[in-house]
Amino acid sequence: MSIDSYIEAVDQIDSYKRYGKIKRVVGLMIESIGPAVSIGNVCYIHPSKGSKIAAEVVGFNDENVLLMPYSQISEIGPGSLVEATDKPLTIKVGKRLVGKVIDALGQPLDHSKLPLGLINVNTEQMPPNPLDRPRIVEPIELGVKTIDSLLTVGKGQRVGIFAGSGVGKSTLLGMIARNSEADINVIALIGERGREVREFIEKDLGDEGLKRSIVVVATSDQPALMRIKGAYTATAISEYFRDLGYNVNLMMDSVTRIAMAQREVGLATGEPPTTKGYPPSVFAVLPKLLERTGTSNFGTITAFYTVLVDGDDLNDPIADTTRGILDGHFVLDRKLAEQGQFPAINVLKSISRVMPQITTDQEQKLANDLRYHLSTYEENYELIQIGAYKRGTSKAIDEAIQLQPQIISFLKQDINEKCSRDQALQLMKEVLYGGNAND
Ligand SMILES: Nc1ncnc2c1ncn2[C@@H]1O[C@H](COP(=O)(O)OP(=O)(O)OP(=O)(O)O)[C@@H](O)[C@H]1O
Ligand SMILES: [Mg+2]
Repeated sequence: MSIDSYIEAVDQIDSYKRYGKIKRVVGLMIESIGPAVSIGNVCYIHPSKGSKIAAEVVGFNDENVLLMPYSQISEIGPGSLVEATDKPLTIKVGKRLVGKVIDALGQPLDHSKLPLGLINVNTEQMPPNPLDRPRIVEPIELGVKTIDSLLTVGKGQRVGIFAGSGVGKSTLLGMIARNSEADINVIALIGERGREVREFIEKDLGDEGLKRSIVVVATSDQPALMRIKGAYTATAISEYFRDLGYNVNLMMDSVTRIAMAQREVGLATGEPPTTKGYPPSVFAVLPKLLERTGTSNFGTITAFYTVLVDGDDLNDPIADTTRGILDGHFVLDRKLAEQGQFPAINVLKSISRVMPQITTDQEQKLANDLRYHLSTYEENYELIQIGAYKRGTSKAIDEAIQLQPQIISFLKQDINEKCSRDQALQLMKEVLYGGNAND
């Protein structure tokens, strides 16, 4: 190292400590007089007992600093000292983090020590310059038949998975994590109940999946800011691996809970509520977060964001906003789940916007033919069910009725069943054209 880098390091050192004093605490919000800081800086609050509490500058009220804590607060009172750091939140990342389950601040959840040789990265980064983003040109094999054949995802594509509760989101994410050809999975579990975390890691992900994954957890009982940071941390880890040239799979469960956490922060800092109580900052934060994934000049982050839809209402403001930002949406349908059709992806309501540019004409024809049969069947479903449709009236409907059972069994996939993209396409050909697979 040259002497210059040492001089630079010395220049950057905060050579004196700046302190402020707490004036009041309202709910989540801590207001302090000083220190001189800027938005996004981390501060340490020194309680009367115990160790210091990290907090982040989220706003200002006249001359006063508004802070939000990363952990539960106790033992702080008027006059407690607030120490400035002049730095945003950083986490430690590296290849040795693979296989670990960490919290939103990058610390192992099992209280073990972090491995050596990790480097510091900022959790908040700018999205890559739009002109530095190569187009998505290649499909990524995910090992889920319905997606690989009918909703093909490209390397670096960002997809929303829209679903109500209990229709198979976690199971589907687990399947993708185990089966896909990505180099590494980064999985963010945000706002889940504590019980679900272990269930996901042990049951849905399994040892096989965890070996090639980093899991970031911020459960629902954590302060709102930690839940938001969980999303930033997972994205920053994905970016680190993308910069190394990896094809990363990022799975974020769920964007709705991140938006809800941002709502808590926004309302507490005095923003006005707008649609469904969400303050404007939610709609500014979401694009900034979701735009960070995708392709870059080095590697790709293929991202899956789950969005909770209440009573399967796809017009919720968060669902609407995310759908507009992402390059595709998969809808998991409660009706299908109730019928035992898993994964419960409603093919007709789902779309992969980049599929036409990453698949061959023949693959597209196969997908279109299958969609055509499915939609013909669905349009005439009631007539068929009550026996009002007479066979022979329409060739298209006859065909749809005849193919329906095979199509449904093609769309079904057991949790542990693996299927490559080529196998899926071959199976689809057999279902559609029978023995005459060259049709
Ligand atoms: N591919 C599948 N094959 C068979 N059963 C499945 C499949 N996918 C999901 N299920 C069933 O659906 C149930 C709910 O799935 P899962 O826990 O993944 O849903 P979820 O949407 O994550 O729920 P929550 O909203 O509670 O997080 C599972 O217990 C499982 O029995
Ligand atoms: Mg779940």
